[in-house]
Amino acid sequence: MKSIPFTVGAAALLAASIAAQPFDALRAAPSNVEGQQPPAGGPPPQGAPAQAAGTPGAPPPGRGGGRGNPMVAKFNDTCATCHGTSRDKGPVGPSLFDDEWTHGNDDDSIVKSIREGFPEKGMPPFKDSMTEQETWQMVAYLRTQAANLKEKPVYVPDPDGQIVKSEKQTFKMQIVARNLETPWALAFLPDGRLLITERPGRIRIVDKNGAMAPDPVKGLPKVWEKQDGGLFDVEVHPDYAKNGWIYISYSEPLAGWTPPPPPDPSAAPPAPAPGQGGGRGRGPSNDPPSMTVIVRGHLKNNKFVDQ
Ligand code: HEC
Repeated sequence: MKSIPFTVGAAALLAASIAAQPFDALRAAPSNVEGQQPPAGGPPPQGAPAQAAGTPGAPPPGRGGGRGNPMVAKFNDTCATCHGTSRDKGPVGPSLFDDEWTHGNDDDSIVKSIREGFPEKGMPPFKDSMTEQETWQMVAYLRTQAANLKEKPVYVPDPDGQIVKSEKQTFKMQIVARNLETPWALAFLPDGRLLITERPGRIRIVDKNGAMAPDPVKGLPKVWEKQDGGLFDVEVHPDYAKNGWIYISYSEPLAGWTPPPPPDPSAAPPAPAPGQGGGRGRGPSNDPPSMTVIVRGHLKNNKFVDQ
């Protein structure tokens, strides 16, 4: 398998695997723009709300570890004297940020270590001076700060020609196309041209020599570009040479949907419709529900036809 990454604007990289793809690999792309969950953060603090309280102390220089976690100050005042604040061994105990754990790396074991301490090794128990909630918050801080202190890959403004050594392979980056807007998928035509979808609803064509056609393909359906919606996948029929079919998937607003009437200003504020942000602090949205559509067409003179 060979990987060809290309740049998106100047920074992000999209590595695309260009191994032969089975035709049925048309993936259903996420279509419900309301269906996103916020990323889960840290371990569950057993019924404790994950909210910031108190005044956070100064995190180690240059890092904002565990923003707002009230245990930052506690750690720096109490634990750092023995454990230090880096990934190196502390003055008396091991680093708590190096991802190595003698007494268990799961949250429960770490909570136990903190609550019971290791009196025979010089660490006092903290079960009387820290509440259970504080102990869990401390674990959350240890995890967050450990992640913050991990070595970050060096930022390379233009990765063209860069050699990357990964765990298993060494490979060279080669830029295939620049200045794409959220490229989503790609597919090769038998003649070696590369089709690239851009989420706002464009297909770009890169020729065999790596030159991108200045004009996007015309005649594409209008996509519903919102949050994670837009133009998604492109696939070339396995028998393309014979039938010329190209398949794309994209999101569009649900047919027949009409927006709710504007609220009557004299009435009490209406309850948000189910699934429309109620309880998630976003307020009701007037966006239509969206769905993913798959269409096929032919590419003729830089136009998508016969849909
Ligand atoms: C007086 C020194 C001292 C203080 C203060 C101290 N520790 Fe420790 N801690 C140690 C030592 C020593 C060990 C290693 C025990 C061992 O070798 O088994 C340890 C072990 C631990 C471990 C287990 C590490 C592992 O590898 O499994 C955790 C977790 C921990 N400490 C958390 C804390 C936290 C959180 C605080 C502050 C609230 C704290 N410690 C304060 C000395 C200290």
